[in-house]
Amino acid sequence: MTKTISSNGAFPTTRLRRPRLNDWSRRMMRENQLTHDALIWPLFVREGDGAPEPVGTLPGVSRHSIDSLVDQARYAADLGIPAIAIFPRINPEDKDEDGTLSGNSNNLVCRSVEAVRAAVPNIGIVTDVALDPFTTSGHDGVIRNNQVDNDETVAMLQQQALVQADAGATIIAPSDMMDGRIAAIRSALDAKGHQDVLIMSYAAKYASAFYGPFRDAVGAGKTASVVGKETYQMDPANSDEALREIALDIDEGADFVMVKPGMPYLDIIQRASSSFPVPVFAYQVSGEYAMIEAAAASGGIDRTKAMLESLMAFRRAGARGILTYYAAEVAEILNA
Ligand code: PBG
Repeated sequence: MTKTISSNGAFPTTRLRRPRLNDWSRRMMRENQLTHDALIWPLFVREGDGAPEPVGTLPGVSRHSIDSLVDQARYAADLGIPAIAIFPRINPEDKDEDGTLSGNSNNLVCRSVEAVRAAVPNIGIVTDVALDPFTTSGHDGVIRNNQVDNDETVAMLQQQALVQADAGATIIAPSDMMDGRIAAIRSALDAKGHQDVLIMSYAAKYASAFYGPFRDAVGAGKTASVVGKETYQMDPANSDEALREIALDIDEGADFVMVKPGMPYLDIIQRASSSFPVPVFAYQVSGEYAMIEAAAASGGIDRTKAMLESLMAFRRAGARGILTYYAAEVAEILNA
């Protein structure tokens, strides 16, 4: 699909401004489109009833009760958003060192999935597979001998994925970055009759500072321990390694893959989407959202334009879909 650029079209014959002069021609010539079909909306859920609790570091984003989460899911479905992603804020007293609640079929995630599934049957439900909302350490796995133990964690992730699928999750999204987890989760799901449940792997997930507000939202702020997330999440310096991660996850059975964070890693999204014939999704993470919000709040940038531009950039880079806290707001604008 190499395109050659003609050399005999110099100025003044060629005027690239010509198609830019009118709204109709700009729209007609546009190489990429942003539609509600490309959006996944991440939502936070907490225990208890009552009004949504604002997340301080994420203006406009709240932690919902299960009832209010269901309302949000219904709203998303009405907007034509294909799927929501559910992230729990687990009460501190329910956490333990190993994050054992993650594999319990009555945990907050499973109860949320069941409620959404029952009330809004036609929306995709993404659940995160990783132990961090459940561990006192805030790590995505269990700690043994001052390391996050890969294989013992993978066994727990299998159980976590199973209870989520049993509850009605339609897309299992492992975000833990343990080695071998996609194959392990796929076989665990298949063995229990969940062969139609999709796997979206966080295949290239970087050890990033841009997750800060998310950790505030789920209450996994302090990974105050001997070991850091850079022992399992990717080094921001690496690009070839992302392709190896993605290739392995596809081999292991991932239906589609994700690159995360988004905007600082557009090069990875582009390499991934041009290298593999599977859909590549991007996660516009909490810190990216917070940056746009902060710059808009101080009057430096036009909020709506920056939001739309940031999302179009993902599409241009080759992302099929985007996880974004702006999903509902953008869908409102696109559907207007
Ligand atoms: C947990 C997880 C994280 C995010 C999604 N799933 C945080 C982390 O790995 O520390 C971040 C999302 C965001 O920042 O918006 N495994």
